[in-house]
Amino acid sequence: MSQQNNTLPMNRRDFLKMGATALSLLAALEVGGASLMFMQPRRLDGVFGGVVTAGPADSFPPGSVTHFPDGRFYLIRAADGGFLAVYQRCTHLGCTVNWEADQNRFFCPCHASAFDMLGSVANPPAPRALDLFPVSITDGSVVVNTADIQTRDEFTPAQLAYA
Ligand code: FES
Repeated sequence: MSQQNNTLPMNRRDFLKMGATALSLLAALEVGGASLMFMQPRRLDGVFGGVVTAGPADSFPPGSVTHFPDGRFYLIRAADGGFLAVYQRCTHLGCTVNWEADQNRFFCPCHASAFDMLGSVANPPAPRALDLFPVSITDGSVVVNTADIQTRDEFTPAQLAYA
């Protein structure tokens, strides 16, 4: 009568099988971990598509326009101290508008649209005012959310944010 002994040490084949299984599991964990990292939302703070801290509210004098190329917006401080952030993209066909301080206007080099200091159309073919980004004043700093593009027909005082 033969008797099987289940307490025998593992043979070479079982050992290799177990090693291959362990390596497969490790590879699966690595691929899974890398996939999870890739699927995480990217942080875009400080650049277009994220939240941009423009700087202390006091550093922008009333009646000024400051360009933030990385955020793709102009920060406007109106004469009464209110803030407005306008997207630099022309509402006609999307070219980048330039601020012309000597003319007190934004000008689009593509088809000559012009916008006044608050972004309203001063000269077509642009069909509407420059788009806005929400502005808030947090701990004395101007914060612009470039992830939230807001369209408008023209400027209204309600669009201004105050410190
Ligand atoms: S894209 Fe600006 S005027 Fe046409």
